[in-house]
Amino acid sequence: MTSGRVTSDAIRGRKGQPPPIVMLTAYDTPTARIADAAGADVVLVGDSVAMVVLGHPDTLQLGIEEMSHHVAAVARARPRALIVADMPWLSYHLSPADAVANAGRLVRAGAEAVKIEGGRVRVPVVAALLDAQIPVMGHVGLTPQSQHVFGGYRVQGRDPAVAEAIVADARALDDAGCFALVVECVPRDVGALVTRSVSMPVVGIGAGPECDGQVLVLHDLLGLSAGPSPRFVRRYASLESDAVKAATAFVEDVQAGRFPSDDESYHSPGTPPPGTPPPGTPPPDAR
Ligand code: KIV
Repeated sequence: MTSGRVTSDAIRGRKGQPPPIVMLTAYDTPTARIADAAGADVVLVGDSVAMVVLGHPDTLQLGIEEMSHHVAAVARARPRALIVADMPWLSYHLSPADAVANAGRLVRAGAEAVKIEGGRVRVPVVAALLDAQIPVMGHVGLTPQSQHVFGGYRVQGRDPAVAEAIVADARALDDAGCFALVVECVPRDVGALVTRSVSMPVVGIGAGPECDGQVLVLHDLLGLSAGPSPRFVRRYASLESDAVKAATAFVEDVQAGRFPSDDESYHSPGTPPPGTPPPGTPPPDAR
């Protein structure tokens, strides 16, 4: 009997099969409920939480403790979608054993798979995680945890040698046993080439439409993120300005004495409704 929940094996089986895989970020219970109700196949508790929700300038500021806290909040939504947790910077770089211990914390918090950034250099870590029965999603192209090496958030793979290295990284992760791969911010032809070069499904972000799936940061598509968006973000709502409008209406109602109304107030038993004249007051036509 199946629970109807999406598994990493089910995602692996979607290679080259329509419809494309959809992955959305979620960082807490309400955003996980939204992503799941929308029909996402995967909710990614991305380390983008550091920037999108916690106000940090980059993803390097996030630790395993904070990530576990967000994973647990997402898991409490009990989504049908597969819960994948990003491993924070330095939580998988020191040794494979350290990576397994940290990934184990995320699994105990509710993650069903983890995502790590980097290519060939990560193969020993992927092997150790798989040995511990933890499914792994890879991430190549623009890997934000490498921003200081890249000199910022730049499109990767415009140079043919770099494109070739990205494909070699993707193949190494495929051979190592990753169930899926994120490829971020590469030219469309490189996204297509990576997708054709591996047997696991490739989920793109800023990598063109030929990938096996697409991922976006939920707050970006909802219009809840500050600052300019990259070219690959399509905005479907303007929730930040809608929220400011709603909060402003509340402020104005309170300041003008319109909130709360009597209907929004509790009453003690036997208290007359507001505006009732005190007992003994003659009716208006007798005054
Ligand atoms: O942290 C994140 O949100 C991500 C996605 C953009 C793929 O890694």
